[in-house]
Amino acid sequence: MTTLCRNHTIFNFILYKNTTKEGILIQNSKYLDFLSKFGVGGAHPGGINLTKEIFKTENISKMSHILDIGCGTGQTAAYLADKYEAKVTGIDINSIMVAKAQRRMKKNRLPVKIIQCSIEQIPLPDNTFDFIISESVLSFVNKPNALKEIFRLLKNGGRFIAIEFTIHQPLEEKIEKEIKQFYGFDSFSMKKDWISFLKRAGFKNIRIQKNKSISSIPEFHYSKDIKHELYEVMDKHFDMNLKYEGVFDYRIYSCTK
Ligand SMILES: C[S@@+](CC[C@H](N)C(=O)[O-])C[C@H]1O[C@@H](n2cnc3c(N)ncnc32)[C@H](O)[C@@H]1O
Repeated sequence: MTTLCRNHTIFNFILYKNTTKEGILIQNSKYLDFLSKFGVGGAHPGGINLTKEIFKTENISKMSHILDIGCGTGQTAAYLADKYEAKVTGIDINSIMVAKAQRRMKKNRLPVKIIQCSIEQIPLPDNTFDFIISESVLSFVNKPNALKEIFRLLKNGGRFIAIEFTIHQPLEEKIEKEIKQFYGFDSFSMKKDWISFLKRAGFKNIRIQKNKSISSIPEFHYSKDIKHELYEVMDKHFDMNLKYEGVFDYRIYSCTK
């Protein structure tokens, strides 16, 4: 526990294994097991404090419909429902994350709907949301497919906000392979790649920001049955973050449908 707190900034880049080229399902990933069994909330760069800062400048009200894709344990979704009384929905592919998010909403009596599904196929109607947020999720999925879904689900004039992993130059093959294998990234993207993905999906008014000064201590909602091997996965994750400190970076993308 002490180690976890000491290393909290490392959770800025907690990442997930998605379906890989070898056909390993996200549900079978040891790394996903680790994240979900530890119940890490705020598992994105800057954590919940960056989320709060970003939403201060968005025009959110009680009337806003917001979707948090890859919501994890639901920390952001709960915050948006509580602070703005907005109508919030969260989706995540991982059943443990979904159960922990649902428990959070029940405990805090928040009317947030949590659905278990993939970002690439969300069972919700077109033009539903005023805001969609993705926090450290899109690098693990097929970006064009996910962005197509996000665009479909947004109302005209709706806003998409993403805090996402961004590299500054192409990675050496060996490094790329090591990071991909451990985290299960689908692909690495530079700023220019993100812009091109967003434009191709139809988004406009694309804005890119960076905010390095904000950080948060992540929350943990531990499961009862955490196997020893998951502590090893966590250690490996810490090692990777130290080893690739200069490589792991992020940007905040915002745009309009
Ligand atoms: C790094 S975590 C971020 C969680 C949360 N956004 C946060 O900031 O705490 C990535 C999340 O994306 C989810 N995820 C990964 N691939 C997904 C997919 N294809 N569809 C839905 N959720 C997915 C994982 O289960 C995990 O909860």
